[in-house]
Amino acid sequence: LTISIGILGATGYTGAELIRLLHSHPEVRITYCSSRQYNGKPISEILEFLKGSYDRELEEFDASAIKKRCDLVFSCLPHGVSMEFIAQITGSVKVVDLSADFRIRDASVYSEWYQKHAHPEMLPKAVYGLCEIYGDEIRHATLVANPGCYPTSVLLPLIPLLKSGMIEQDGIIVDSKSGVSGAGRGLSLNTHICEAGESFSAYKIGHSHRHIPEIEQELTKASGAPVSIEFTPHLIPITRGMLSTIYVSTARSEGELKECLQEFYKEARFVRIIKGLPATKDVRGTNRCLIAMSKGVHSGRATIISVIDNLTKGASGQAVQNMNLMFGLDEAAGLDYIPVFP
Ligand SMILES: NC(=O)c1ccc[n+]([C@@H]2O[C@H](COP(=O)([O-])OP(=O)(O)OC[C@H]3O[C@@H](n4cnc5c(N)ncnc54)[C@H](OP(=O)(O)O)[C@@H]3O)[C@@H](O)[C@H]2O)c1
Repeated sequence: LTISIGILGATGYTGAELIRLLHSHPEVRITYCSSRQYNGKPISEILEFLKGSYDRELEEFDASAIKKRCDLVFSCLPHGVSMEFIAQITGSVKVVDLSADFRIRDASVYSEWYQKHAHPEMLPKAVYGLCEIYGDEIRHATLVANPGCYPTSVLLPLIPLLKSGMIEQDGIIVDSKSGVSGAGRGLSLNTHICEAGESFSAYKIGHSHRHIPEIEQELTKASGAPVSIEFTPHLIPITRGMLSTIYVSTARSEGELKECLQEFYKEARFVRIIKGLPATKDVRGTNRCLIAMSKGVHSGRATIISVIDNLTKGASGQAVQNMNLMFGLDEAAGLDYIPVFP
């Protein structure tokens, strides 16, 4: 089986990460890469490190060429734009959308946080692509909404704990830190090295970050009752990596919480519950999520730490994992990396 792959928005960070991962995937070949600005140029002219390894010419979006040449398309486009392109090709090819366009089940919630949803009729078809939770649905899906990076780091530890009633649904506080590549390759003042380097700041505090409705949707589903979180994201001066510190109320012991997660993830290929404290370096360039936790004997709260690479498990790696599931391949095909160290 060789799967023909298209990448929309191939010149951005998640597109480049997909090319890196798919390069050593045993069952795929990339047959189409789109760019709005650079069509007609070899992709290695834009991403020079690809020279000699991958030199395919970038093309304009062309729905009929995609339908002829691709079995699956990854959309690495900004939200809003992504759904417009996907609407022209779904039905003929499978799609994994890395944008937020199909993650929120309720079009009115999407409209409140993003913009008016142009294709609400497609929402019932979309499966939320958190592989460890929705694997069975993903195997039969034709449109997968790849989760956001912050949501992946928060949902992987919390969903099993909420589902099994080990933690309380109220009072969840999430404090997350992201590397600068989370903001994409486009230029902006906030991600300029002089502004972001040697500095560390929170942004979008209060109930204002766009990943909140996605996280709350999935936590509410796991808990069976409405969950509302406090979420504070931070930008840290590293290129890749994301660390979430999560505070939860619970009457259970540290050992019980760990056992619950260990049992839930005993077959999982990429999620590990560890003894020490994970660092972003431990997952750099990998599809792993490492989780640790601590709880004082007399405390009613536990602290959970999870780390992922925002571009890999938080985006393109999880997208490849979704593709593997959608085509009945080994879930870890092309993803079996250990991190670069040191
Ligand atoms: N970065 C992350 O860590 C991360 C994690 C999870 C999800 N995501 C999501 O994944 C998607 C891609 O993120 P990214 O970080 O790769 O972004 P990026 O580096 O900014 O790349 C986006 C690509 O989309 C193309 N593009 C931009 N505006 C467009 C438009 N109006 N019409 C058509 N093409 C357009 C651009 O290519 P050309 O200019 O060559 O056309 C660009 O290469 C976004 O929806 C983002 O929210 C990102």
